[in-house]
Amino acid sequence: MGRIIKLGFVFTLMLTVSAAFCQTSLEYSIIPLPAKMKPMTGYFKLSKQTVVSASKPLAQDAQIFVDLLNEVNGLKLNVYDEPTKVNFIRLKHNPKLKADAYTLAVTRSNVEITGGDNGVFYALQSLLQLVSSDSLGNLRIPCVQINDESRFQWRGMHLDASRHFFSKEFVKKYIDYLAIYKMNTFHWHLTDDQGWRIEIKKYPKLTQVGSIRKGTLISHASTEIAVMDTANYGGFYTQDDVREIVAYAKARHITVVPEIEMPGHAVAAISSYPFLSCSGKQIDVEQTWGVFDDVYCTKDSVFEFIEDVLLEVMDLFPSTYIHVGGDECPKTAWKGCPTCQARIKEMGLKNEEELQSYFIHRIEKFLNSHHRKLIGWDEILQGGLSPNSAVMSWQGIDGGIAAAKKGNFVVMTPDSHCYLNHYQGDPTNEPLANGGYTPLEKVYSYEPIPAELLPAQQKFILGAQGNMWSEYIRTDAFFEYMLFPRMCALAEVVWSPKASKNFVNFRIRLNNHFDMFDKRNINYSRAVCEIKKNIYSDLATSKLYIELKQEYSSGDIYYWFEDENGKATPTQKYETRVLVDKSCTFHAISRNKEGVVMNKVSQKFMHTKSTGAKIKLSFPPSSKYSYNSPHTLADGISGSIPWNGKEWLGFLENPMEAVIDLGEVTEVSQVLVHTLNSEASWIYLAKKATVEVSENGVDFVKFGALNQEEIAKIGRMILIKNNPVKARYVKVYVESMGMIGKGLPGADHNAWLFISEIGVE
Ligand code: ACM
Ligand code: ZN
Repeated sequence: MGRIIKLGFVFTLMLTVSAAFCQTSLEYSIIPLPAKMKPMTGYFKLSKQTVVSASKPLAQDAQIFVDLLNEVNGLKLNVYDEPTKVNFIRLKHNPKLKADAYTLAVTRSNVEITGGDNGVFYALQSLLQLVSSDSLGNLRIPCVQINDESRFQWRGMHLDASRHFFSKEFVKKYIDYLAIYKMNTFHWHLTDDQGWRIEIKKYPKLTQVGSIRKGTLISHASTEIAVMDTANYGGFYTQDDVREIVAYAKARHITVVPEIEMPGHAVAAISSYPFLSCSGKQIDVEQTWGVFDDVYCTKDSVFEFIEDVLLEVMDLFPSTYIHVGGDECPKTAWKGCPTCQARIKEMGLKNEEELQSYFIHRIEKFLNSHHRKLIGWDEILQGGLSPNSAVMSWQGIDGGIAAAKKGNFVVMTPDSHCYLNHYQGDPTNEPLANGGYTPLEKVYSYEPIPAELLPAQQKFILGAQGNMWSEYIRTDAFFEYMLFPRMCALAEVVWSPKASKNFVNFRIRLNNHFDMFDKRNINYSRAVCEIKKNIYSDLATSKLYIELKQEYSSGDIYYWFEDENGKATPTQKYETRVLVDKSCTFHAISRNKEGVVMNKVSQKFMHTKSTGAKIKLSFPPSSKYSYNSPHTLADGISGSIPWNGKEWLGFLENPMEAVIDLGEVTEVSQVLVHTLNSEASWIYLAKKATVEVSENGVDFVKFGALNQEEIAKIGRMILIKNNPVKARYVKVYVESMGMIGKGLPGADHNAWLFISEIGVE
């Protein structure tokens, strides 16, 4: 109770300051927010004479601090292991403290730090974030008393080095970024269908062959016509590189957890050694993104290979956990493989799901016999969970809940909140990304402990992790852009007390970090400052409006419309909501006081009789893809391709049935349903679409229908036309393809049905 009251005081103080200075820096802008912080008056002045006093075991922590201070603030301090009398930053290790805990006391004369095993290093990160300069450019640290500790023990960030390769130098930079924000686990995704990235001495072809692909998809996997870059693409880390990175991370109190994918996502390995698959056929390293049928066979020689690989991996990585993937393993090859079928019989297994479980259990025993633990994606729950395994819950939170209820440790990384390869700003303004929509505020809102867990089960949640899948992240600069500032939000989720979370306060503290990114030449997203558009139907009039908001930037907003021939209306200053009553492209910009354009936003509208109309869904869409449901279907916006989580509703279990009220009896002659065909994302064309109409909303008559063959012919824009009829209500029913057929991405799973708009004319 006491702690909560104190934090409340700190917030009040900070918010008062922020109201006065809005965009200027705040002095106490530590991210993640410390558990207890008491700002005090006065400053400790940093100068060349300031000495960092650290005993030998803390010399490395001290040196990293000194180097960073020099890099960012241009002041080089000396480190001594002798205590000094004045003007010092003294570091002390207290093994009795919790490993991550520390106290940091800044007074006018000195800085005193006491920390557990990692705590001194974390205190120094907090200290760095407090350094600022006065009006004369002198460095200073505001006086403060901090008592801090971590909330979760797994504070993870991931890097997919397979889809795109990131150099050793960049990996080290990434580790630096993790360290600033007290993240302590680096999950390194080293193998996948598109490239094997770690040297294995016993199997040299893994890197000679498996690290190189003969081309790369450069369009989005969901676009109908694939655009390929035909250049060879490759890269891998030597064992010396790995050792260097593991040591570099260790010095920054970060554990590196390697991921060696199995039994699926194994194409790069199979292309190097074809005996690893069921068919034994020579195949190429994959050049596109998705899920592929060639997986490891379950014959003994494959287990021998994997165990050999893991022996070398364990030699390089001292982590307790070894990640074995386990996700997205199609069972097609196993179903047709005599060896795998014989394995099912021999082991008394029910089906291929249990064969996956057998695979994981067998590897787990091997890891355990070498005193390591297995961690895998939530599919390792299929066919029974290994008792000693930890689960990384990515397909939402259900896997994590099930695992914690069974007493297995869990790392939460639901794609809804923790996949930082999703869009973070309005997708119409953003560079090409994977899809999805995970803005900063959504990441910040994440709570790793599911409400469904009883207190005794909650302790199995080790923490959470942000994932950086790199299909669309081709450069270091774009990696940074997708990472920042969302990792800052996640850092606060996993470090700071739950009760202290406050997005408005976090957003203010972030301003200092934007300054730091600028100073360090880090490329970051300013999506949080963009002009936010809210497109909604006024339910009283069934008219569509666009409303603009600029929460974190100042300046006036101006807007204009462009018609379908490119002719623009005069520019007007935005005051209040704007009516959208015809097909057009809406543009808005904000200008600062000097007239410089700060932000831009655009939106294309296709206006029909149903735009802005009242709409009711008989069955809800999946909670994953339900943004602004059901109005998304009548907001005049035809979902963009590649798809994103803002403009599309996704249906998995349910069909889509919508009743649209046009407000009055009118003539209806056609209905256009905007669906999506994005097989790599398991989104397929519909199986069936019907339209019925009614004058009174009770008695409906058939207007038209299309079957699967007809839909396949016309494609994703399903147009149902008929002779004009009088109607006020239009009922549209669309059914998904159902089970995905063999040989297609997502085979044996239900297909997704995605719909962005229903236009009635
Ligand atoms: C995953 O995103 N397939 C773990
Ligand atoms: Zn097989």
